[in-house]
Amino acid sequence: METNRKVTLTHNEGKETIDLPVLEGTLGPDVVDIRSFSKTGMFTFDPGFLATASCESKITFIDGDLGQLYYRGYPIEQLAEDSDYLETCYLLIYGELPSAEEKKNFQHTIMHHTMVHEQLTSFFKGFRRDSHPMAMMVGVVGALSAFYQDSLDIANPEHRKVAIFRLISKIPTIAAMCFRYSIGAPFMYPRNDLSYSANFLHMMFATPCEKYEPNPVLVQALDRILILHADHEQNASTSTVRLAGSSGANPFACIAAGIACLWGPAHGGANEAVLKMLDEIGSEDNIEEFIQGVKDKRYRLMGFGHRVYKNMDPRASIMRRTCYDVLTELGLENDPKFKLAMKLEKIALEDPYFVERKLYPNVDFYSGIVLSALNIPVSMFTVIFALARTVGWISHWNEMISDPQQKIGRPRQLYTGAPRRDYVPVDKR
Ligand code: CMC
Repeated sequence: METNRKVTLTHNEGKETIDLPVLEGTLGPDVVDIRSFSKTGMFTFDPGFLATASCESKITFIDGDLGQLYYRGYPIEQLAEDSDYLETCYLLIYGELPSAEEKKNFQHTIMHHTMVHEQLTSFFKGFRRDSHPMAMMVGVVGALSAFYQDSLDIANPEHRKVAIFRLISKIPTIAAMCFRYSIGAPFMYPRNDLSYSANFLHMMFATPCEKYEPNPVLVQALDRILILHADHEQNASTSTVRLAGSSGANPFACIAAGIACLWGPAHGGANEAVLKMLDEIGSEDNIEEFIQGVKDKRYRLMGFGHRVYKNMDPRASIMRRTCYDVLTELGLENDPKFKLAMKLEKIALEDPYFVERKLYPNVDFYSGIVLSALNIPVSMFTVIFALARTVGWISHWNEMISDPQQKIGRPRQLYTGAPRRDYVPVDKR
């Protein structure tokens, strides 16, 4: 929203000025609207978007200094405690909590579109058996545009609605198929009588030979992981989805782009990296040496630090409690990896190196431990993050497409390469 405040910039050695309007949101710091800045003949330079808001959005708000996260205004703690994943999806997509009737209809729609096109099973067979599940996710989700051609017209609201439903319904099925394929197990058809999270555990762990009843404590823990990872405003993968979508690419292709970005260890790969790090540290006796290596910048303490949170990540506090619940339910309170993580957490929270840099544990420090306790292999951690984040990505994509002021994303650059020079034939070089 525009205010009557302005920031005045002086340039051209003090001979010219330009007034830049100040905009204010409902929450968070004001932003300077620099769209008219290019009239000066210059651009602004901000690699990594450290000081740049890339868009206007009504979906999620993070206060990094206070350690707060809201989806559509609702604190994450309340949603994690009292809501469920599908209700949170509804909230993220439509902006309001559903009525009882709307909730029932939404759940019914999502849970009755969980099967994938049967020919997609043949598509899987093209992958090497030892493919990483994320490699398959990127490919298969992108390929949905080849299977569901009747929901690709992004200018048609009905097509967009169907594509959104299809993505949320089918992502767990595809994620479980990636896992089953990688271990040579048969694909399990979804069970629409189960909840979203219980059905995912069923597709992951059931076999056609015997009955499988998901443990309700573990189902709730998974549901909570999905809620906590459902959205996180303009992070790298969401910005990737927006940028891909800004060219008019179809939603399945855009979500595949988001999955590719999420794969990196500084983003969605962090919980996988936390478990690898705990394995490498091995025992409590090696923590001191490891921490010294972090301070010498030989490696990073994975699961610590965040671009926006300079206080405790609120998702981490919830995940820490969930971690205790799950390990207690499974009788794993004395699990050596968990004990090692707790010791590492204590040392890091007290060490001035981490305190001065405001490096607190983030959600991924604990989510990997919970996922391992759920028997989910490390290679599937980022896949589950992608599953959870699909609703956030698609809500941002939909918000962007519905915005009449939307333009193709096209950053500029500061060129520091060679100046103009003439081509030299190969025999003269
Ligand atoms: N371990 C050790 N030192 C760190 C860490 C860390 N995990 N994170 C930042 N630092 C140090 C960094 O070396 C730098 O120190 P100095 O000022 O002496 O040069 C200072 O803290 C600032 O670091 P930065 O790289 O400028 O911070 P950033 O905002 O660019 O990085 C981050 C954010 C998440 C990429 C980074 O903290 C990191 O690599 N963390 C580990 C990976 C991780 O856990 N990622 C999951 C993020 S939460 C999931 C999500 O939302 O995607």
